[in-house]
Amino acid sequence: MTIGVVAALVVLSALAAADHRPSAIASKPGALLGLRGGGGDGVTKPLVVVGSLNVDITIEVERLPKKEETVMASSPCTSVAVGGKGANQAAAAARLATGTGRPAVLVCEFGNDGYAETMRTALQEAGVDVSRCAHSAELPTGQGIVMLTPDGAASSIVVPGANAGWTAERAAALEELVCGASAVLLQREIPEEVNLAVARAACAAGVPVLQDVGGEDRPIDDELLREVAYVCPNETELERLTGMAIGSEAEILAAGRSLQSRGARNILVTLGGDGSLLLEEGGRVVRQGALPIPGGRVVDATGAGDSFRAAFALALTEGQPHEQCMRFAAAAGAVAVAQRGALPSLPTRAQCEEVL
Ligand SMILES: *[C@@H]1O[C@H](CO)[C@@H](O)[C@H](O)[C@H]1NC(C)=O
Repeated sequence: MTIGVVAALVVLSALAAADHRPSAIASKPGALLGLRGGGGDGVTKPLVVVGSLNVDITIEVERLPKKEETVMASSPCTSVAVGGKGANQAAAAARLATGTGRPAVLVCEFGNDGYAETMRTALQEAGVDVSRCAHSAELPTGQGIVMLTPDGAASSIVVPGANAGWTAERAAALEELVCGASAVLLQREIPEEVNLAVARAACAAGVPVLQDVGGEDRPIDDELLREVAYVCPNETELERLTGMAIGSEAEILAAGRSLQSRGARNILVTLGGDGSLLLEEGGRVVRQGALPIPGGRVVDATGAGDSFRAAFALALTEGQPHEQCMRFAAAAGAVAVAQRGALPSLPTRAQCEEVL
């Protein structure tokens, strides 16, 4: 375990160091997209992610154990990395915003265990502002236990830990931060009442919220649908959320419209290798095909959706039209799947520009 932690940290530190070196992106931030840190008002408001943090503990096995069976791991150590949709989205946003001056703020709950410090350091090294995160006194850091088989398939169990320990008071204390954000990213790995409180505050202040529907599998409140600017499911999640069949594009649009009839505004659907589709509030549909994957094949899809959503949000805060937001997001998704692991595989802006 210790060796795993050290190894993961060495990798994360190396990546973070690479990010902070002066590079082409620093001299021409987002040149291809014309992306800029400053908003229209000349103020660089932070991108705020309120959500989960897990320590992802990956165990390599030849095959999954059967019921009541014990199998040996095929590697002597587990590997430990930053995980959880909230942390992944914040880290992706921080990496993509490098050189633009826009801060990426993560609000999460660290646990009362040794992993908390490891995770904090790794997030900081990735450029994430963790100053608004809290520490749970009672609960350990959330964990994602991942079993990885040689075919690249990952089977996991999530133990919520401190992600389940949010209080309503804590959500209320975030109001000022949320109202001063350029955009807010939410997922469903913390109590839904927190999401609702944050979305309500952001909506009232005119701050766009992107609601990732990945995480807990339960019906979504109509009020939450109304308060967020973008509902962001993948195909499976859209099917789960609406109970409608998702095969053709017509079916995807019909499911999206059913969410709109419940009060949702924009529906941003990721379709894996088929790209993505945005059903706008006014009914217009924007399509974006998948962009070429560097290296030509999917190595690991972990974190791809998180990178896609963070990139979309970032381009949106930079005042880009939906078409450009989706193109930038598609580039981030393509880079993310080309590399193994969660946080270390998150794309940088320079890597996205190579794809575009
Ligand atoms: C959609 O996202 C969930 C995670 O929220 C994942 O388990 C599922 O495999 C994804 N579905 C597709 C089709 O990618």
